[in-house]
Amino acid sequence: MNINRITDRVTYCGVNDRTTGRFEGLWELPYGVSYNSYVVRGSKASAIIDGSDLHHTAEFIGHLADILEGTTPDYLVINHMEPDHSGAIPTLKSRFPDLKIVGNAKTLDMLNGFYGINTGTVEVKEGDTLDLGDLHLKFILTPMLHWPETMFTYAVEEHVLFTGDALGCFGALNGAVIDRQMDTSLYFPEAYRYYSCIVAKYGQFVEKAFAKIAGLTVDYICTTHGPVWNEQREQIARLYARMAKWEGDRGVVIAYGSMYGTTAAIAEEIGSRLAEAGIKDIRIHDLSHAPQSRVLADIMRLKGLVVISPTYNGEIFPPVASLATALLARGIKNRVIGVAGSYSWGAQSVKKLKAMFEGKPVTLIAPAPEMKQARKEEVSPVIDSLAAELVAALG
Ligand code: FEO
Repeated sequence: MNINRITDRVTYCGVNDRTTGRFEGLWELPYGVSYNSYVVRGSKASAIIDGSDLHHTAEFIGHLADILEGTTPDYLVINHMEPDHSGAIPTLKSRFPDLKIVGNAKTLDMLNGFYGINTGTVEVKEGDTLDLGDLHLKFILTPMLHWPETMFTYAVEEHVLFTGDALGCFGALNGAVIDRQMDTSLYFPEAYRYYSCIVAKYGQFVEKAFAKIAGLTVDYICTTHGPVWNEQREQIARLYARMAKWEGDRGVVIAYGSMYGTTAAIAEEIGSRLAEAGIKDIRIHDLSHAPQSRVLADIMRLKGLVVISPTYNGEIFPPVASLATALLARGIKNRVIGVAGSYSWGAQSVKKLKAMFEGKPVTLIAPAPEMKQARKEEVSPVIDSLAAELVAALG
C-alpha cells in the first residue's frame, strides 16, 4: 500500500469499502465508506487508534504490517466500539497477543460484551494521558457521539485530534487521504447525509464535545470515516456545529407519498408557488422512491419542510409515516413545517401528521391543503396560502 503520513508520528491505516450496500443495514452507500484507522509512534511505544470492520480485517492487517515494518504495536486505542471499527479486534489481538487495549469503562464493558475480551486492557478516564515517549495521547470523554463509550484522543505534541465518528462523513477515499490533497466537494454533501442518518439525535452532545476541545490546538482532525481534515477543518467543524443546532438554509423540502398522483400534484403545485415567490433551493422527493438518507440530508440542510400524505388504511401513507418517525427520532427542531394530504372517504393523514409535529420545537404553519378524491379547484387558494405562509416564515 501507499504509506499516507499525516504527520511525522501519525500514519493513516484505513480501508475503503465500496461493496457494502447499506451502512448499518439501512443507509445506502453510493460512494462507499472508509473505515479510518491510524498508527501513532512515539520514541518508546506505538499505538493503533481505532480499527476496521470484520469484512476488511485482512486488508487492514496488511496495511498495518506495511506501516509497522516488522515492529509490534503496544496499544490499541478504541474511540468507538461500533463493529464497523471494532470488528478487527479479535484478529488484531490474536496477531499481537501482548497488545494492550485502551478504552474507558464503558468501552471495556462493551469489549467484553462483544468479543469476550477482558484481559490486557487499560482503562482511562477523562483527561488521562498515555505516555508513548516523546508523544503523549490525552483522552477526552465525549459520550453519545453517537454511542455511550465514544471518546476523542488527542496526540498532544502533534496537535492531531482523533474524533471517532464525529466530524466524519460517508464516501470512500479516492486515492488521497488529507483534504488538501483532494477535491472535497463529494464529502460535504456526504457529511450532511452521514450526520442526519447517524448522529442527528445527539446534537447536544456534539455541542458539549466541541466545548470540551475549545482550547486545544488542532492541526489535523482524524475521524473514523472520510477525509483527514486539515485545511478545511474549520469548515467541517462549522458544518457539524450548524447541524447540531438544526440551523437550516433558506429553502424547502417537499416530501410526499402518492398512490395515484393526487398528492404528487399538490407537491408540484406547492413547489411552483414557492419558486414564483423567489425560493430557489427546493427539493421535491417522492418518498416511495427517494432514499430516505437523501431526504433526511436535505431536511437537515434546509429550513422549510412540507410533508404530504394520502390517507392509507386510515393512517398516514407508510413511506411518509416512516420519514416523519425518523425525523422525530432525530429530535427535529428549528424547522418551519407545513402538511397536506388527500383521502378517498375518511380524512386521517393530515390530522395525524399534524399530531406528530405538534408540541415539537418546530413552527407548524397553516393552512393544510386536503383533497377528497379528485383534485378540486377550491384547493388552489389553500395551496397558495400555505406557500405564502411558508415563505413568510422563512423570512
Ligand atoms: Fe462508524 Fe458509529 O461507527
